[in-house]
Amino acid sequence: MLDEKILNILRQNKEQYISGEELCKNAGISRAAIWKHIEKLREEGYEIEAVPHLGYKLTAVPDTLIPSEIKWKLKTKIFGKEVISYKKIDSTNDIAYQLAEKGVKEGTVILAEEQAKGKGRHGRSWASPSKGGIYMSCILRPGMAPNEIPKITLLAAVAVAKAIRELTGLEVLIKWPNDIMLDGKKLCGILTEMKAEQDRAEFVVVGIGINVNIPARQLPKGATSLKDELSHRGTKGAISRIELTKKVLERLEEYYNLLEKRGFEPIIDAWKDLSDMIGSRVKVVLPNRTFEAQAHDIDPDGALVVRLDSGILEKISSGDVVMVR
Ligand code: BTN
Repeated sequence: MLDEKILNILRQNKEQYISGEELCKNAGISRAAIWKHIEKLREEGYEIEAVPHLGYKLTAVPDTLIPSEIKWKLKTKIFGKEVISYKKIDSTNDIAYQLAEKGVKEGTVILAEEQAKGKGRHGRSWASPSKGGIYMSCILRPGMAPNEIPKITLLAAVAVAKAIRELTGLEVLIKWPNDIMLDGKKLCGILTEMKAEQDRAEFVVVGIGINVNIPARQLPKGATSLKDELSHRGTKGAISRIELTKKVLERLEEYYNLLEKRGFEPIIDAWKDLSDMIGSRVKVVLPNRTFEAQAHDIDPDGALVVRLDSGILEKISSGDVVMVR
């Protein structure tokens, strides 16, 4: 708590020195105590200059997904008002699910630097190496019917794609329902889970995994990372995971509010603008059969409508879809 208070005072005075005396006064503690806290912050990776007669200055912040960094100047009212971070856990989705069952507030976010058992769609695993990635789960209580929850999944894909585009300039695309791709390689996956009664979802967990600064060679075949893609395009250096996490939360809130105010149609429109799938030839992989068809449209519930070669339209609500040409 006190660390965060001191940090906030230093942040407010960024680019300039704040005297030890003033820092003590504002934080309400002694000189000796300040020194102990500064040392602790340094151990966490904060670079704080201390110059005799001038005071303290914050010069660098570590790119660690800790609550105080995420919440700092975050422009949201719901998403990320409560943030819980872990160094390593099995799955942020599992923790989010357990906390949601205990009644935590809508908008609560669970983050981890590393996941031991990161979960993907259809029972697959999600590679979650330490640092480098964003592994985050958001708890929502949209009060919708269970069959409407796919709308939240598509909404999340729009929010993440927009956030990545804004922060990196990379023209990422969405593959139905919610993979974020670049040049046919996967950058981000989203796993939505819910607890539902018959006619109402009690809560929804939106789990987002983004390959940010992980070298692609550490990722499964067919996957890539933002850092590698930027570097192929001549931009070297790491991307701030803190800034990207904040941007994703801000966009999630924007589209969540839009869904509430104007319904699902503007979300579908945004989804289609961010996807090159509609009109393409696709391979549909369902548990019991695989076939090729043409992606025709997104229906008002978020399902993918494909046109079979016989001309018949078929609705795909879950499954894997790959573009073939
Ligand atoms: C997919 O298969 O495309 C979905 C991947 C979802 C991964 C994220 S990482 C954060 C959250 N916690 C998990 O265990 N999975 C999701």
